[in-house]
Amino acid sequence: MIPHYSALIVAAGRGERAGGGLAKQYRPLAGRPMLAWSLETFATDSRCREVVIAIHPDNRPLAEEIVRTTALPVTLVEGGATRTASVRAGLDAVTGDRVLIHDAARPGLSRALVDRLLAALETAPGAVPVLSVADALVREAADGLAPVDREGLFRIQTPQAFRTAALREAFAAAGDRSFPDETALARAQGLAVVTVHGEERNFKVTYPEDFERMEQILAPGTAGLT
Ligand code: CTP
Ligand code: MG
Repeated sequence: MIPHYSALIVAAGRGERAGGGLAKQYRPLAGRPMLAWSLETFATDSRCREVVIAIHPDNRPLAEEIVRTTALPVTLVEGGATRTASVRAGLDAVTGDRVLIHDAARPGLSRALVDRLLAALETAPGAVPVLSVADALVREAADGLAPVDREGLFRIQTPQAFRTAALREAFAAAGDRSFPDETALARAQGLAVVTVHGEERNFKVTYPEDFERMEQILAPGTAGLT
């Protein structure tokens, strides 16, 4: 049986660390708004049945323009003051029994990563992409830089994939609390989450200098040309 899923893209943030006027997810990146990249990855996947996007109400006209030509049903919902609140609002609109929750700020998402997440969901209620940490780590302490053991540490990405009913239960039990991501929320409610290999190209565009690096990934060889 082909596993169908719903995509929930969170795009209601203000992009403050990226600076500039327009929120980062609406800025052009390799020829189209950042949000359009992950939307297309989902919309061209025959297993994806719907896309829900949490947006800030100020940006509704921009979001409507981006989704206008999408072949799949797209629902725009109003996000909240925190990422958790935006996911909660989006989850209410999801109709499928599997959901992939993704940051609009990660336009480099690949189909292969979606494959790994869906495969993992066959046997676990939740699955998330992680990458190992290559650099040595230190913690700033009063007496200098204290080394941090890298063993067992991972960087976590999105999409974070869940069986919708299990995640809804976890959200209901979590009340109004905020969490860094769904993995943290799920863990707080005792919901098992397994890991799959993440991807460097799926990094989160966060700071001004990240735009050029992502542009190289999405349109190799063109970044910097005018
Ligand atoms: N997000 C959201 N609702 C919020 C906050 C964040 O939907 N209230 C979304 C962002 O739009 C982004 C993703 O969550 O796609 C990851 O958040 P982040 O990279 O932190 O984006 P921003 O919060 O917009 O950026 P910043 O923290 O720099 O202001
Ligand atoms: Mg943020």
